[in-house]
Amino acid sequence: MILNQKLDKILIIDFGSQFTQLIARRIRELNVFCEIVSHKEISVSKVNSNVKGLILSGGPLNVYEKDKFSFDKNILKKNFPILGICFGHQILSKSLGGRVKQSKHREFGLANLKKKSNSKLLKGFFDKKNISKVWMSHADQVTKIPKSFKIIASSQNSKFAAIENDKKNYYGVQFHPEVTHTHNGKKLISNFLFQICKIKKNWSSKDQRLKLIKEIQNQVGNEKVICALSGGVDSSVVAQLLNKAIGKNLHCIFVNTGLLRKDEEKQVINTFKRKLKMNLIYVNAEKEFLGKLRNVTDPEKKRKIIGNLFIKIFERYSKKIKNVKFLAQGTLYPDLIESKSVTGSQTSKIKSHHNVGGLPKKMKLKLVEPLKFLFKDEVRKLGLELKLSKEIISRHPFPGPGLAIRMPGNITLEKIKILKEADQIFIDGLRRHNLYDKIWQAYAALLPVKTVGVMGDNRTYEYLCLLRAITSQDGMTADYYDFKKTFIQEISNKIVNSIRGINRVVYDVTSKPPSTIELE
Ligand code: XMP
Repeated sequence: MILNQKLDKILIIDFGSQFTQLIARRIRELNVFCEIVSHKEISVSKVNSNVKGLILSGGPLNVYEKDKFSFDKNILKKNFPILGICFGHQILSKSLGGRVKQSKHREFGLANLKKKSNSKLLKGFFDKKNISKVWMSHADQVTKIPKSFKIIASSQNSKFAAIENDKKNYYGVQFHPEVTHTHNGKKLISNFLFQICKIKKNWSSKDQRLKLIKEIQNQVGNEKVICALSGGVDSSVVAQLLNKAIGKNLHCIFVNTGLLRKDEEKQVINTFKRKLKMNLIYVNAEKEFLGKLRNVTDPEKKRKIIGNLFIKIFERYSKKIKNVKFLAQGTLYPDLIESKSVTGSQTSKIKSHHNVGGLPKKMKLKLVEPLKFLFKDEVRKLGLELKLSKEIISRHPFPGPGLAIRMPGNITLEKIKILKEADQIFIDGLRRHNLYDKIWQAYAALLPVKTVGVMGDNRTYEYLCLLRAITSQDGMTADYYDFKKTFIQEISNKIVNSIRGINRVVYDVTSKPPSTIELE
């Protein structure tokens, strides 16, 4: 579905590449609006005159397995400038009469791209020796290019690494300009946008603030809006936008599940009620949550109980506010993109994610979703412009079910207390060593095993604390952060020495996949 019919845009047709969202981010960074649509749902009739150019993404498919994907070739008759990337390059070539085959040498990683002829697309791309480093990831390759195309650059294994038909403004590249490993990838994308599609800059986070405030005012008028505030970046930015737009007609509800990080509720109340003077309803539901979770050990059950109870409480309190017409949610653009992975594997199926911001559909409220065209990094920029503190803006993501899923096994008050302390020591340590912003997400977890230790002359028999810190782009894949030994030692010593209940600390070095970021 194309969401925004008004703005000029670049349309990205997604064939399931893990990098599709990166293409969109690079374009947005160049201050141009773009949207992503799935190959399964785009047809020529849905492409209107706001579209100034098309990008065909990469993907895990083979162009010769036609039953696995769909591509409406009539799109090619519309005379848009087109850039095909990797699989997109192959499908463009094949659709116009070229040939694609499985290559003898699969190419993964960096390759030297050599200029073969001048091209608008690759202007300013090469060094003095006409070479540029590009990042490849493919098993198939184009073996014959369509008539009227010419080679503009080659790599050792890909003769047709970059091709063009400059009369039609069709371009294909076997490498990935959207990943940062491709040295001048942004230059290539910029050439495509401004020299070839001739689209004007129409997107900047600065304009967003005023535009979004105005749009909220137009949508909501004098009606009341409720908003579930979690204290995370997205809901905080939504709340502050609405606060600026409609002031006292905004009612935020903040539910303390008892499973938040240490002192989190105090910070949220302090920021939103005291500093920003918002209407904030604080609901302390610790007892209710812990009551329902007593003796529950199954991860999915925990998630469901927390999700359902959250909605019940949210509904209960929102009914107390009379004449509410709207519900504000921190839905982001990646949540809306319908290009479900072509292979069908989706993180949301691995765990039933519960998003604190949403869900009570039966409340029959109209939705206000001001962030629905934005990526997370754009939301962060917007937050800074809205003068939210850096602490809120740069906060690591925190899952809706909170500490419940960082404590495999049953949940008790004692364990929560121990875990909150350990987590705080770890996070404070990251901040002290200037590591917090280098890490996408970090936390401490409490494992349901006790091990033997010795402190002074005494035997101890206490819990095992697991530390996890990962780097990631979007949480879909992740790698562990490679701390210096002295840092891990310092944190481990602090935790074991100052927290009764933990006598051993381990560091999780698995990536995602095969693990997930959270433990449950
Ligand atoms: P996993 O564990 O699936 O986590 O690798 C990926 C990212 O999602 C966060 N997460 C959640 N966020 N509700 C949320 O709002 C949830 O139920 C939930 N479960 C996981 C997790 O913290 C990580 O950032």
